[in-house]
Amino acid sequence: MDNTSRITLYDESDFRGLRRAGQLAAACLDFIEPHVVPGVNTEKLNDLCDGFIRDHDAIPAPLNYRGFPKSICTSVNRVICHGIPSKNHLLREGDIINIDVTVILDGWHGDTSRMYGVGDKIPLKARRLCTVTWNSLNFALDAVRPGATLGDIGHAIQHYAEGMRMSVVRDFVGHGIGRKFHEPPHVFHFGNPGKGLALLVGMVFTIEPMVNFGKPHGKMLSDGWTAVTQDRTLSAQYEHMLAVTKDGLEVFTHSPLGLQDKLNANV
Ligand code: MF3
Ligand code: CO
Ligand code: CO
Repeated sequence: MDNTSRITLYDESDFRGLRRAGQLAAACLDFIEPHVVPGVNTEKLNDLCDGFIRDHDAIPAPLNYRGFPKSICTSVNRVICHGIPSKNHLLREGDIINIDVTVILDGWHGDTSRMYGVGDKIPLKARRLCTVTWNSLNFALDAVRPGATLGDIGHAIQHYAEGMRMSVVRDFVGHGIGRKFHEPPHVFHFGNPGKGLALLVGMVFTIEPMVNFGKPHGKMLSDGWTAVTQDRTLSAQYEHMLAVTKDGLEVFTHSPLGLQDKLNANV
């Protein structure tokens, strides 16, 4: 069995479910934005998102997933990903935070994340990091079409981010998604053009590059989840979920309110 044969291909009727799940996750990220302010604790953000998701007849996928204790991930400053919301973690003016929401709606997963600035005095280097990360995701999306390869996607991210003298995290990848939270394939955020699996119409996966201001290396905190940069530099991440279509792609997780690139800096 080759790699391709383990990958589920989804059809137009599946897309209707995936679209609704993706839009709900993105709407949750829009909903939470006004609450991301100095002095709020990340457990409050968790509880608000949890309530929003359940009010829309969905379930937060992270809760109890492989033992994860909360409903969303909140990754602040040097946290690369999988930060655990906590009452004791108060956001401060100038912080940057990734909020990662995954919902299950009628059995379909919707997975997306974006960066928020806390307050209105975000240091330029933090805004540049976020903008480079956002741009890298969009260059990756530009590479998605039937016949392109996973290597084309990874290369688009790596080539751009490293060209901006930032680094791409290797330890976490995008993933197939649908009825399950994480399915094949692994979607690497680095790679070589033309290498790796060729994309087929009906593949559904996330692209979720993590970019560090310094070196790419991470380490895990003792909670077993929180990944942080070894050199303590800032890390940023954006995540979209998409399908490969005959025309190229459909992104399921665009912000309904168009809020997703608010940290835009001149880079
Ligand atoms: N939402 C994350 C992703 O993009 C996964 C979080 S797993 C959890 O794949 F257990 F931490 F929730
Ligand atoms: Co994901
Ligand atoms: Co996610």
